[in-house]
Amino acid sequence: MNDKIQSLIDKKAQALLGGGEKRIAAQHAKKKLTARERIDFLLDEGSFEEIGMLVEHRTTDFGMDKEKYPGDGVVTGYGTINGRLVYVFAQDFTVFGGSLSETHAEKICKVMDMALKVGAPMIGLNDSGGARIQEGVRSLGGYADIFYKNVQSSGVIPQISAIMGPCAGGAVYSPAMTDFTMMVENTSYMFVTGPNVVKTVTNETVTAEELGGASTHSTKSGVAHTTSANDVECLEDVKKLLSYLPQNNMELPALYPYELGEELRPNLDTIVPETSTKPYDMKDVINEIIDEDSFFEIHKDFAENIVVGFARLGGRSIGIVANNPMFLAGCLDVNSSTKAARFTRFCDAFNIPLLVLEDVPGFLPGTDQEWNGIIVHGAKLLYALSEATVPKVTVITRKAYGGAYDVMNSKHIGADMNFAWPTAEIAVMGAKGASEIIFKKEIAEANDQEAKLAEKEKEYAELFATPYEAAKRGFIDEVILPHNTRRKLIKAFAMLENKVVDTPKRKHGNIPL
Ligand code: HXC
Repeated sequence: MNDKIQSLIDKKAQALLGGGEKRIAAQHAKKKLTARERIDFLLDEGSFEEIGMLVEHRTTDFGMDKEKYPGDGVVTGYGTINGRLVYVFAQDFTVFGGSLSETHAEKICKVMDMALKVGAPMIGLNDSGGARIQEGVRSLGGYADIFYKNVQSSGVIPQISAIMGPCAGGAVYSPAMTDFTMMVENTSYMFVTGPNVVKTVTNETVTAEELGGASTHSTKSGVAHTTSANDVECLEDVKKLLSYLPQNNMELPALYPYELGEELRPNLDTIVPETSTKPYDMKDVINEIIDEDSFFEIHKDFAENIVVGFARLGGRSIGIVANNPMFLAGCLDVNSSTKAARFTRFCDAFNIPLLVLEDVPGFLPGTDQEWNGIIVHGAKLLYALSEATVPKVTVITRKAYGGAYDVMNSKHIGADMNFAWPTAEIAVMGAKGASEIIFKKEIAEANDQEAKLAEKEKEYAELFATPYEAAKRGFIDEVILPHNTRRKLIKAFAMLENKVVDTPKRKHGNIPL
């Protein structure tokens, strides 16, 4: 009996060592934690239960039958984060470079199946050289099994991918199909083909970091939703993100206790500049409105003309979509539309109410935008906000011009409460452009054309560049004093808590992709 117990203890000890001390030291030398250290840091102390610790690969080719490591390059199991159940896999770069074999994939699939059955978030910590080269198509099949399960889980349980090392080739498609891809600066990269293939095919010389590092994917491609300075910060971000989310699509996010007070925010009365063309930072508005320090921004450095992220408002989890006049005057363009549409759909899938803060002069004009399909990408946001059935509230702080007025959660596409500040300008276009068109003849005939244009501009602005035409028609439910915004919103979201919308029976809609 003692021998048998000792044998198990030895096997487990060997599994805990992964690819061995030397490779663990190499991992540390790259400023990376090991798979087990990452799990330890991510989960509540002592909560991790491992599944499949003794699984080994079945390959015999290339002398692989003599090289086996218990666990086969991935640590899988379940545990809790702040007391809430999660499933996790962490690829172990010290074992065959974390590469994905048939059995490695089976282990991941097993926990993915459990997460879906039980209804708990699935977190993947990626650090892998890709397909286990010695296994050929068996490895590719393993990837496809994971991809398929990603899709089955989509919109049912939150799926989060942290990229903490290499993630190359087709392997990138699993993170891409999860809800959030979080990258670590300088130690992670993602690309479909690496620098060598790029050089051969296109003759471009590019480093791995330039091609697919965290900064590239957080600013240029939008593939990364967040970036962090190191492994520990990335894992902290995973925990923080989860705190805004429900366990699955049948639950509501946690509601923190909150007692409504006066909630006055006088700074909001002076945040919009006197001059309509002067920018201000919508993040200042957000931070005045939400519970203190509760903003968790997604896609912070990508398409900054729109801001999206999670926050708490009176203890309630909400998703915020906000134009930011600091960038491109807050115009909607291809990237900002796609960014906001995807975020909107995530919130809708997981019962997170939406707050839209609006200051938008319209869609960004130009050949670049038209040729890159602003029509179809802008339609994504229109579609996503129209389709969302969660509580939807809008505050127009300044401009709501043209088609962008309709798109940004207008009453007409199903918003529940639409507020406007007295500084709101709800019109087909800006006063200058409008006057130039409708008073063209009068201006042309005037002795002083500039003075005439200014006069007409003023006339138009007084009539239409206000919230009152829209309020008269009920398109705006209430014109509010900016300092009351927080209180109005807390009450509106509480009022909308039990909102139910019946949707037509269909397989799925056909969002313009
Ligand atoms: C088997 C692998 C491996 C792989 C790395 N290793 N990648 N073993 N299959 N894909 C092993 C190495 O042999 C080495 O073993 C150990 O992992 C560490 O690798 P190093 O090269 O020493 O590490 P490093 O210098 O940090 O370079 C890491 C790397 C490089 C950039 C990831 O290993 C690399 O380029 N690997 C190949 C990547 C690749 O082409 N993968 C296939 C992509 S195609 P020892 O014993 O020395 O420790 C793909 C298709 C997926 O993934 C399709 C899905 C649909």
